[in-house]
Amino acid sequence: MHHFAYRDGALFAEDVDLRAIAAEVGTPVYVYSTATIARHYRLFAEAMAGIDPSRAPPPIFYAMKANGNLGVLKTLAALGAGVDTVSEGEIRKALLAGFPPARIVFSGVGKSEAELAFAVAAGIHQINVETEGELDLLSRVGARLGRRQEAVFRVNPDIGAGGHAKITTGSAENKFGVSHDEVGRLYARAANLPGVRMMGLALHIGSQIRETGPFEAAYAKMAGLVAALRGEGHRVERLDLGGGLGIPYDQPNRPENGPEQAGPEHGPGLIEAYAAMVARATAGLDVALGFEPGRLIVGNAGILLARVLHLNPRPTKQFLVVDAAMNDLVRPAMYEAYHAIWPVDEPAADARNAAYDVVGPICESGDTFATGRVLPALAPGALIAFMTAGAYGASMASTYNQRLLVPEVLVKGGQFAVTRPRQSFEELLGTDRAPPWLP
Ligand code: LLP
Repeated sequence: MHHFAYRDGALFAEDVDLRAIAAEVGTPVYVYSTATIARHYRLFAEAMAGIDPSRAPPPIFYAMKANGNLGVLKTLAALGAGVDTVSEGEIRKALLAGFPPARIVFSGVGKSEAELAFAVAAGIHQINVETEGELDLLSRVGARLGRRQEAVFRVNPDIGAGGHAKITTGSAENKFGVSHDEVGRLYARAANLPGVRMMGLALHIGSQIRETGPFEAAYAKMAGLVAALRGEGHRVERLDLGGGLGIPYDQPNRPENGPEQAGPEHGPGLIEAYAAMVARATAGLDVALGFEPGRLIVGNAGILLARVLHLNPRPTKQFLVVDAAMNDLVRPAMYEAYHAIWPVDEPAADARNAAYDVVGPICESGDTFATGRVLPALAPGALIAFMTAGAYGASMASTYNQRLLVPEVLVKGGQFAVTRPRQSFEELLGTDRAPPWLP
């Protein structure tokens, strides 16, 4: 469930009226719910802690790429989360948000020497190595800095899954990880390298996966690999199982009123089913597990609040032009993703419905949030919420069409704070430089 619900005729984020946020911060604006973030983090962390109660609870490395807002990060750091980063910028932001280096993992397909040096010098927990070249580079960097950096190999298990081809990462055609058959040779090579210490394996097969089957098949391969590596005398202590668990995007436009009105959980028992499957797949393996969920933690903890600008009735359809665009929320344009749209003013039970193509102001037809979406009739000035926009929303935003980078607000109970103000035109335009040959 999440904490966006109608109260006294308007949509609230926890105890805050979204109309108040729109009035104070303007639109478009992302709004996040602390209670929802905390709830999902705890649900996941507790389920994973139950997998093997004889061990320390496994670290949950929240995948910052899903939502790197400082308020969101500080909320998760305070809850005891770790963080999965993919660039020097993300490592810097993790440190800024208060994650101790011992709870930071660095993944990514193409890490540069400067990034590796930054990570090693910062003393982070683990680097997930994806190529042989990266292994050598990391060892050189570690030796230069007088460190043996703890690392794991990210394995490509050749089992991909995900809500869209662009977010599948685990199949052999995908660019991610070292191939399954190479791990033994690389592990043996790494044993002779001075600047790196291999601790185990990692994988991540894709995103928005709403069944346990693909994970189970991939984890079985990893269990086999752990046994094979140990048979060759290698030390395998850690198994980082990645992220990828999906969430329901298909919430009804008008939730029923009531205490549990705020929509379904992550599918019936998906987290529990996943935990039970992980327990089976890793039973007796004697490894320290780790996880990298992103979307599951923040996905339905956020909405994009926007305002209707114009109606454009045409012979065959009606366009609803809103002030948010694909630069603010690119998922529909990029992955044909579905986001439910809830009017902020609660529609009357007998409200007239209309079918809209919901579009933004950007100059391309791809700037479309929904096609033929049936909504209560809306007029210019109406506020709407794109639901389930907390993951890969603001973190993928851009300034395309010279639009200001979208602001972000964090709600906690009855309070809200602007955790990223709307960019100013000075900030947007002020960093460009004219070449010296032009006046
Ligand atoms: N770990 C690694 C190594 C990853 O590459 C990712 C996501 C995650 C963890 C977290 O995955 P999650 O639990 O959030 O599924 N922009 C796309 C999603 C891209 C996911 C990229 N990797 C979208 O909007 O659907």
